[in-house]
Amino acid sequence: MSIVLIDSGLGGLTVLHEALQELPHERYLFFADNGNVPYGTKPKETVRSCILSAVQELVTEETKALLIACNTATSIAIADLRRLYSIPVIGMEPAVKPAVELNRNTGKRSLVMATPLALKETKYHDLVNRLGDTEHIDSQPMPGLVTLAEELEFDGPRVQAYLQETIGDRDWQEYGTAVLGCTHFSFFRTAFAKFLPPHIELIDGNRGTVRRLQELIRGREEAPDSAAAAGPVVEFRHSGSDPAYRERMEQALDWYRRDRERAGRPRA
Ligand code: DGL
Repeated sequence: MSIVLIDSGLGGLTVLHEALQELPHERYLFFADNGNVPYGTKPKETVRSCILSAVQELVTEETKALLIACNTATSIAIADLRRLYSIPVIGMEPAVKPAVELNRNTGKRSLVMATPLALKETKYHDLVNRLGDTEHIDSQPMPGLVTLAEELEFDGPRVQAYLQETIGDRDWQEYGTAVLGCTHFSFFRTAFAKFLPPHIELIDGNRGTVRRLQELIRGREEAPDSAAAAGPVVEFRHSGSDPAYRERMEQALDWYRRDRERAGRPRA
């Protein structure tokens, strides 16, 4: 039995990294729909059909749980997926709630960064409205980070120039938290930390999502088989035609693992 994780590309590997830390005895199938990346600048119906057909291909009787490691696809298709599949289906949403809570007693603002499509969706607006603090939450689409991540460019002059162009004009003294509301953006934690003043807390939803996965599969765990007991087993698949993409997935996961080790584990 394996856990299927899906994203448009490399971003979901940052969630896989967290899952490997928390649930090392599971088997994973990681799928990147790189033939269709980016999702975040495409029409909603295109993304819906990409994700539904990917899931249909990947989920079998051997699937223990399905994790949509993509905020954009979650906002478009999670309700359909939960209706269609009886296994646990876990989605992702920008971690706005913890970001707002951290600012609770300071009056500081939160900046939520995500794809243009995720920020347009009703699911995001409902989330923000539910928190009842709309005047302290700002949103910033950052589609260029998806492109840079797909090119394995996680730090360096092009990344810093893009951050300057998109969020360089904000008065960061007004802010306390910044939300990485797209799984590709977690690759840029180090770049953000260099760019932003040190009081800004960067928050992603990866750990919370993996905790939710853990809760939902509890009780379904079998004794680890001998292969899984020796260490996690990950199968990588992708939709694009370039066979070198598989290697790129492994490089990205490895880069992220080393980056997180260097930084120490983030708080959220
Ligand atoms: N990684 C995705 C997310 O979390 C989408 C990136 C994209 O394909 O635009 O939103």
